[in-house]
Amino acid sequence: MKSKTILITGGTTGIGLATAKLLSAEGAKVIVTGRNPATLAAAQKELPAGTVILKSDSGSLAEAQALGTEIKKLTAQLDGVFLNAGIGQFGPIEAMTPQHYEDMFNVNVRGPYFQLQSLLPLLANPSALVLNASVVAELGFPTTSIYSATKAAVVSLGKSLAVELAPRGVRLNTLSPGPIATPIFNKLGFPADAQKGFEDHMAAQSLFKRFGTADEVAKLVRFLLSADSSYIIGENITIDGGIRLT
Ligand SMILES: NC(=O)c1ccc[n+]([C@@H]2O[C@H](COP(=O)([O-])OP(=O)(O)OC[C@H]3O[C@@H](n4cnc5c(N)ncnc54)[C@H](OP(=O)(O)O)[C@@H]3O)[C@@H](O)[C@H]2O)c1
Repeated sequence: MKSKTILITGGTTGIGLATAKLLSAEGAKVIVTGRNPATLAAAQKELPAGTVILKSDSGSLAEAQALGTEIKKLTAQLDGVFLNAGIGQFGPIEAMTPQHYEDMFNVNVRGPYFQLQSLLPLLANPSALVLNASVVAELGFPTTSIYSATKAAVVSLGKSLAVELAPRGVRLNTLSPGPIATPIFNKLGFPADAQKGFEDHMAAQSLFKRFGTADEVAKLVRFLLSADSSYIIGENITIDGGIRLT
């Protein structure tokens, strides 16, 4: 990763933050985005000096389309991009509102799509791109219907865009994590007891009987962004402790 410039959206907590730390430790110049002033400030303290922390809301179409212009002020080119920012709001269909629908599709699907469009002129040849989807894209879980649909859309975008961008030297892969211990589980909108039940169920489904860690996912992202994965393209790689098998 030495001397590579990598952009990570949603790099202020969880999987994005763990990836930013790992890539920085290996010599990359890292730029992370987020939107919450508190987590942006906390990330500034956690990440090494020299990391650029940028406020950019993936749910805003205007900010997604302006991301390329913002990044151009910082660097002439990007060697890798991890489009990772995402949100989940879980509940049965009766509890879901048009606002939930819009928020999740805007942040998880529209955001990365138009961010990528705006970043295209900055992508080096060769460069690597990783989209963060989820194993729920391919599984049936009660209460995750809209979230799962957004992630299925990400998997689909990953396939088409891998083919479309390959001639530019951009190597795109998608990641589908299972349950990973990150702050996202405190933001799902569940009552506390329901959340505990959901987490216990997810852990029990794993063949390892535990959640994965953000560090475990970060190592996979590093692999996909590095030349070590130079012949892997258009894949949707699952990292789920085997929950898809149970
Ligand atoms: N944890 C899991 O079990 C799991 C499983 C499968 C897939 N994923 C996916 O992994 C990705 C990272 O999630 P995580 O588990 O690491 O959760 P997390 O700790 O909540 O991290 C989400 C990151 O995205 C940022 N973000 C959220 N909404 C944003 C927006 N509108 N604009 C800019 N940044 C935004 C957050 O920043 P702020 O603090 O500023 O909001 C934070 O940095 C998501 O796409 C998620 O769907 C997670």
